[in-house]
Amino acid sequence: MTVKVKDFGLNNLPDAVLEEYGDKTKDPRFRKVMLSLITHLHAFAKDVELTEEEWFAGIQFLTAVGQKCDDVRQEFILLSDTLGLSSLVDSINHDSAGGSATESTVLGPFYAEGAPELPMGANIVQQATEKGIRAVVMGDISNEQGQPIVGATLDVWQSSSDGFYHMQDENMPDHNLTGRFVTGEDGKYYFATEKPAAYPVPTDGPVGDMLRACGRHPMRPGHLHFIITAPGYKRLCTHIFTNEDEYLDSDAVFATKTSLVGEYKDCNDEALAKEMNVEMPFEKVVYNFILAESK
Ligand code: BEZ
Ligand code: FE
Repeated sequence: MTVKVKDFGLNNLPDAVLEEYGDKTKDPRFRKVMLSLITHLHAFAKDVELTEEEWFAGIQFLTAVGQKCDDVRQEFILLSDTLGLSSLVDSINHDSAGGSATESTVLGPFYAEGAPELPMGANIVQQATEKGIRAVVMGDISNEQGQPIVGATLDVWQSSSDGFYHMQDENMPDHNLTGRFVTGEDGKYYFATEKPAAYPVPTDGPVGDMLRACGRHPMRPGHLHFIITAPGYKRLCTHIFTNEDEYLDSDAVFATKTSLVGEYKDCNDEALAKEMNVEMPFEKVVYNFILAESK
């Protein structure tokens, strides 16, 4: 028996690969994703005329990214974030389509289950940082018709003014600067914290090497993270960015949006300070969240 040898080369790649995967991949969605991935990978290699050294450097880089991952460090997500892919996937999946609902943005790698459930108005600072500026964050959670949403759960987390999340710093109490609040009849939320400062994404791994090689800084503008959920509404994963932050126009992970900037203002309201149990002076930011109904 003579076996016919199939010739592979520049004349039939990637077509031969696409034909093989196209014929054999049964699940239609997976087939679509695989064929597009192969098409773009081959086009990329052809476009830059990838050398063997460059191909192997790429393999070594991806290997190092995987090796840097552990229970608390996800270097692949950081790679996706710093290439703008996470922000693109967020935009594809949460396009507000011109509605009035609050825009979403990336989750980031520092969300941890188990934030303390706190009464509305509580302070999420368990251990203050020396340079932390006291702040009160407040606003409404309502639907697109302007009605308050009762029983909405608001999860908040942020880094300290030194630039670390609780799981990154062993000297910080567990779940410092995180909290979970549930809205009452008025749909309002309010809590005390420290004004978030800009901080760098982790740069001690291969993604840090990539940023340096590309001449990019690792900074994110100051922000509070939120996940807001309520029965009958789409889950909202978003940030409130700190106004006047010098990195608002160059976020290392391409996740800023104008509509998500909160205006922090000096506040002289002694009654509010008393009610919120914060010392003067402090700053206040009012930001209203609007949730879209789930269909
Ligand atoms: C964050 O905001 O926590 C974050 C997002 C993407 C990469 C690194 C950090
Ligand atoms: Fe963050």
